[in-house]
Amino acid sequence: MSVDQVSHRFGSGPGSVTALDNVGFSLQSGDFVAIVGASGCGKTTMLNLLAGLEPLQEGAISISGGAPSSGHPDIAYLFARDSLLPWRTVAGNVELGMELRGVAKAERRRRALDYLDRVGLGDYAGSYPAQLSHGMRQRVALARTIAQQPKIILLDEPFSALDAQTKILLQGVFMDLWEDIKATVILITHDLGEAITLADRVLLFSSRPGRLRQDFEVPLQRPRNPLDLQSDPEYHELYDSIWNLLREEVTQ
Ligand SMILES: Nc1ncnc2c1ncn2[C@@H]1O[C@H](COP(=O)(O)OP(=O)(O)O)[C@@H](O)[C@H]1O
Ligand SMILES: [Mg+2]
Repeated sequence: MSVDQVSHRFGSGPGSVTALDNVGFSLQSGDFVAIVGASGCGKTTMLNLLAGLEPLQEGAISISGGAPSSGHPDIAYLFARDSLLPWRTVAGNVELGMELRGVAKAERRRRALDYLDRVGLGDYAGSYPAQLSHGMRQRVALARTIAQQPKIILLDEPFSALDAQTKILLQGVFMDLWEDIKATVILITHDLGEAITLADRVLLFSSRPGRLRQDFEVPLQRPRNPLDLQSDPEYHELYDSIWNLLREEVTQ
């Protein structure tokens, strides 16, 4: 996947907003990249461009050698707020993404139950979203995303509305699932600790208009344990050096 000199503007004339200015980066298959930056710096816009939900205005984007498009067979997109259908069971919701990809019924059901097990919701396959807590619904959304076995996963602050414990739990679940399918991941987060814990690289965007300010390598070994990292000096060193720049952007 590559992004080359992408700029994006909303509206026209004096009231227009430049959301992205000349952003470029590229990912190899299987890379896990986090994007951090101040609120309003164009992170969601970047994902929407990659997902083909926002038309490209300037620059070039290549996904698996082609242009972005909504419903791209290689891409699964997970939003901050779970988007489960209330009238479908939990298993029915996990099957939805696979249904859209034309996975056969029996295989869909098998994978749905398997992935629900892996996110710890094996007993809730027949429940409805309204019967679950927010954290549980987000786990269902995670299962739905991974069960599609996409080549590329786009995540827009998927863990941000969760309490601290559930967040650490889900980060761990997601990391395990990712180690399994080795998809290319772009994770947007405003939680720097989460970015460093999960990703191979952290892209720091400047505040609006969003530019790529710095691209940090995360040299921490995998598999990683979020709790062990708390006592790892390398983790803290990296955290501090990114935070020093991020703080400038956030307080601008
Ligand atoms: N559909 C839109 N119409 C007009 N302005 C928008 C739209 N979407 C985003 N913006 C503006 O573009 C900027 C970047 O937004 P966004 O990509 O959502 O930032 P982030 O996700 O980093 O918080 C913000 O100033 C936002 O108000
Ligand atoms: Mg956003």
